[in-house]
Amino acid sequence: MSSALTDLFRYPIVQAPMAGGASCPQLAAAVSAAGGLGFLAAGYKTPEAMYEEIKQLRGLTGHPFGVNVFMPQPATADPAAVEVYAEQLSGEASWYETPLGDPDSGNDDAYEVKLAILLEDPVPVVSFTFGCPSRAVLEAFAGAGTRTVVTVTSPAEAQAAERAGADAVCVQGIEAGGHQGTHFDDPHADCTAAGLGLLSLITLVREAVPLPVIAAGGLMRGAQIAAVLAAGADAAQLGTAFLVCHESAAHPLHKRAMTDSLFTRTELTRAFTGRPARGLVNRFMREHGRYAPAAYPQLQHLTAGLRRAAAKVGDPQGMSLWAGQGHRLAREMPAGRLVEVLAAEMDNALGSVPGTWTGAAS
Ligand SMILES: Cc1cc2nc3c(=O)[nH]c(=O)nc-3n(C[C@H](O)[C@H](O)[C@H](O)COP(=O)(O)O)c2cc1C
Repeated sequence: MSSALTDLFRYPIVQAPMAGGASCPQLAAAVSAAGGLGFLAAGYKTPEAMYEEIKQLRGLTGHPFGVNVFMPQPATADPAAVEVYAEQLSGEASWYETPLGDPDSGNDDAYEVKLAILLEDPVPVVSFTFGCPSRAVLEAFAGAGTRTVVTVTSPAEAQAAERAGADAVCVQGIEAGGHQGTHFDDPHADCTAAGLGLLSLITLVREAVPLPVIAAGGLMRGAQIAAVLAAGADAAQLGTAFLVCHESAAHPLHKRAMTDSLFTRTELTRAFTGRPARGLVNRFMREHGRYAPAAYPQLQHLTAGLRRAAAKVGDPQGMSLWAGQGHRLAREMPAGRLVEVLAAEMDNALGSVPGTWTGAAS
């Protein structure tokens, strides 16, 4: 990885940004202080809330951290299909005694305002999901001294990120929990079948672009981090592993579900947000996943209240329980401790003396 980015962390361990609850200043601070790279998730937040979290995080740690931003989405959703889906969800609305949200509450996630804040008061790293920013935007961040990372799920997306001037790519395999960061959500693609496994994807991207690679998807143990480093990655990004940590602000039911024998597997679904995302298979996914249209963020707005209501009444069967394929391996502990454990496991697997991973900054 370019020395500039590697210098930001001691261990090649990145805590994935997790919008919708889990990410918080306390989690990011604990990871960064332990020698990894903590991340805040700006997705779904107002620009003011994003800035408030950045201020809080700066108050908790002087170590580098990142902020993740969602790209604005093209208006490709079919309003008629959204309307039909809303009718299909009417039973859920009655059951949870909660009205459906307005699907037309905006599709840009306040991108421009968030960029303006991040350029005005720069942070060490900004990553982008659901698309690739323009060259002008990435140049503006470079000028501000911020390293940029673009999430990719194919070699073609990695080439687009390189052309636009990104400093690194986050290579996201199909195993990953939460949304696939695909740049364009093909409405005709079968979301349960599409996508590449992480090891194949790392190699394909490595051979397509010269950019540093942060590998994400299903990584729960240090030995797996060693495996992706051996495959050519420069660092590993873990979401599900950090979601259950003490500092994570994920809902307690979400944390508990990771290792609950009630939830046996994960699947990709459009049921909650209209974009393919991996979560534990529950009643809501089983009942609505089959016909949910490709309409992000319309379905996100439509179902947000239902999911909050399900969480409020303690019903995990109506919540979006985002999780990667390795969820059963989740270990509940302080996040700083998890970074240490992962680093020790990684060193062990690499056959090196603990603490002497050769890429680490001194
Ligand atoms: C609860 C949850 C929320 C997520 N939210 C985001 C997000 O806001 N932005 C983003 O780039 N990735 C997000 N992701 C995906 C992660 O960046 C990463 O790709 C994924 O967690 C890796 O797979 P793993 O969960 O198996 O470690 C999320 C993942 C989870 C589990």
